[in-house]
Amino acid sequence: MANTFIMIKPDGVKRAIIGELISRFEEKGYRLIAAKMVTITNELADQHYQEHRNKEYYPGLKEYITSGPVFAMVWAGEDIVEQSRILIGATDPAQAKVGTIRADFGTDKRRNVIHSSDSLENARREINLFFSAL
Ligand code: PPS
Repeated sequence: MANTFIMIKPDGVKRAIIGELISRFEEKGYRLIAAKMVTITNELADQHYQEHRNKEYYPGLKEYITSGPVFAMVWAGEDIVEQSRILIGATDPAQAKVGTIRADFGTDKRRNVIHSSDSLENARREINLFFSAL
């Protein structure tokens, strides 16, 4: 059993699809451990996306991720890190497989609705960043 960090991004929060997205994970049998609404500061964005800070898209990503509240969550389940990445789909919604969250709700590579940690190590790091009391 593992934990991972999943975050509904500002476009998902604004479109009021939090409940629908939570259902996708519950229907797969995963368990919600913690959740909260957070407005990401510039500092938190830099820490969370530390691996992407030198990418050409980072200024746009930072502006977007700090533009409104996100819904941060910790989920538990068997192989949840890998499985949740399958459930959410490819970064670019246009490339995401049919039936994935990003294929169904994503707009573009920036407004792609949801984030999910890409490794166990990053899951631990991101959970600590957003839920330091856990
Ligand atoms: S991933 O999921 O880490 O393999 O995806 P990657 O392609 O490396 O992208 C990492 C995060 O950067 C976001 N991204 C972008 N944001 C804005 N504009 C552009 N062009 C862009 N390209 C990638 C992408 O949504 C990933 O965010 P997270 O929150 O990790 O899903």
